[in-house]
Amino acid sequence: MTGELQMRNIVKTFGPVKALQGVTFTARPGTVHALCGENGAGKSTLMKILAGVFEPDAGEIYLDGQKRTFSNPGDALEAGISMLYQELDLAEDLTVTENLFLGREIRGRIPFILNRKAMIDQTVEQCRLYGFELNPLAPVRTLTAGQCQIVELLKALMRSARIFVMDEPTSSLTEAEAQRLFEIIRRLRGLGMTIIYISHRMEEVARLADEITVLRDGAVAASAPASEMDIPTVVRHMVGRELKDYYPVRRSNPGAVLFEADNLKTAEGIEGVSFAVRSGEIVGMAGLVGAGRTETARAVFGVQPLLQGAFRWQGKPLVIASPADAIRQGIAYLTEDRKRTGLCTILPAGWNITLPNYPRIGMRYLLRLRKEQAICEEYGRKVSVRWSSPGVRAADLSGGNQQKLLIARWLMAQSQFLIFDEPTRGIDVGAKREVYQMLADLAEQGKAVLMISSELPELFGLCDRILVMRRGRLVADLETRKTTPEEVMHYAAVEEPRL
Ligand SMILES: Nc1ncnc2c1ncn2[C@@H]1O[C@H](COP(=O)(O)OP(=O)(O)OP(=O)(O)O)[C@@H](O)[C@H]1O
Ligand SMILES: [Mg+2]
Repeated sequence: MTGELQMRNIVKTFGPVKALQGVTFTARPGTVHALCGENGAGKSTLMKILAGVFEPDAGEIYLDGQKRTFSNPGDALEAGISMLYQELDLAEDLTVTENLFLGREIRGRIPFILNRKAMIDQTVEQCRLYGFELNPLAPVRTLTAGQCQIVELLKALMRSARIFVMDEPTSSLTEAEAQRLFEIIRRLRGLGMTIIYISHRMEEVARLADEITVLRDGAVAASAPASEMDIPTVVRHMVGRELKDYYPVRRSNPGAVLFEADNLKTAEGIEGVSFAVRSGEIVGMAGLVGAGRTETARAVFGVQPLLQGAFRWQGKPLVIASPADAIRQGIAYLTEDRKRTGLCTILPAGWNITLPNYPRIGMRYLLRLRKEQAICEEYGRKVSVRWSSPGVRAADLSGGNQQKLLIARWLMAQSQFLIFDEPTRGIDVGAKREVYQMLADLAEQGKAVLMISSELPELFGLCDRILVMRRGRLVADLETRKTTPEEVMHYAAVEEPRL
């Protein structure tokens, strides 16, 4: 069939790790093909091989029935394969048009002079063709994450891409932007393109996919049209068993107020934010991207100084001038952006758990390697990290497993008040369930938990109360069993700029 992509018997190992052990994968034009699997199943690795980032140890790639080899991303792009990365690589200081024509500028009749008008006209024309709304003169720095993705897509389209790989594309988008992306995906499919879509959000897979392939431990566990494989079946193939009781059963039994924030204001735009969290309580925080949830967490953790407001701990005034103060007081903050502000990816994975906790485990001055190794293994097991050993570089773990390292770190720090900012982002359904159980256990032990999340189902599945933020302010404090997702969305909603 024309335009058909086939990867045959792909094998890839990283040292002792068998990331892919003979994967055969076929994607047809005019379809959205979802690629599912637990963290570390090999999804990104398979797609990086397709995109020429990695060379396979064995196996072949066929396009239109012809064997192809891609030794670098340029080769793959030449063949019409485009990969939309999580971290986009656009030139921030250039405009949309300049980014689109980077390296292939249109020149005028006079040598060395660029034909700016022609490039802008073509950008407008291309946007019209695909129904994108973009200002060709806007510097990329001023665009939202969703708009940047559109620039990347347009760039690929202008280089005649026909196969689009999207690896968790919605993880940094607002709900409205995600909806826009789905429309675009459907339009590309209508134009006969192939879209390979990786996501841990099963509702997205259910809505978008025509075909679904499930990877498990580097091999294909199932592959079928979406009409023949429902989501529970996909999940069963992913984790290799039935997943029941997705949310833990909670005995909601909040104790005394542990932490209070009173009328917080910071330079990052939050104002008049007051809330309390009790011992044994899981409090959720909902709101659209940019509503001030992370900013609130940063204020509590001492990252961002207060312009106004105060904290109390068990009713007594509490001064938090730095993250060190917060940690001393027993406050933990699992950040949303694990790469930039949480994980040291060049260090061994195990160290990412233990290093900040050395004083606690009695290794302030002396490192006892065997003890450390044992502790790493114990905590790694608690959060079920998948690693060949705690000695592997954190960078070489899959995204979800990196997230688990950070959770393990704070579990070990034995904090009393834990703030989790999007703790399940990028992790698979099985691991999500484990994270929910961990949060429930922490509450059961009498700790106070604040969970920031953009996924309403998990807030409703887990929390005693839900706080809603909008435009830097706390606009609602709702008891979970007395509210509905509609009510939360109503409080959270603000007009969002159109893309
Ligand atoms: N550059 C690398 N060096 C060493 N090991 C790697 C490298 N990249 C991936 N791996 C390992 O290969 C396996 C597959 O990883 P991959 O990133 O493909 O998983 P994934 O399915 O994309 O997971 P996730 O859903 O968490 O993104 C994992 O065990 C991972 O630790
Ligand atoms: Mg991945």
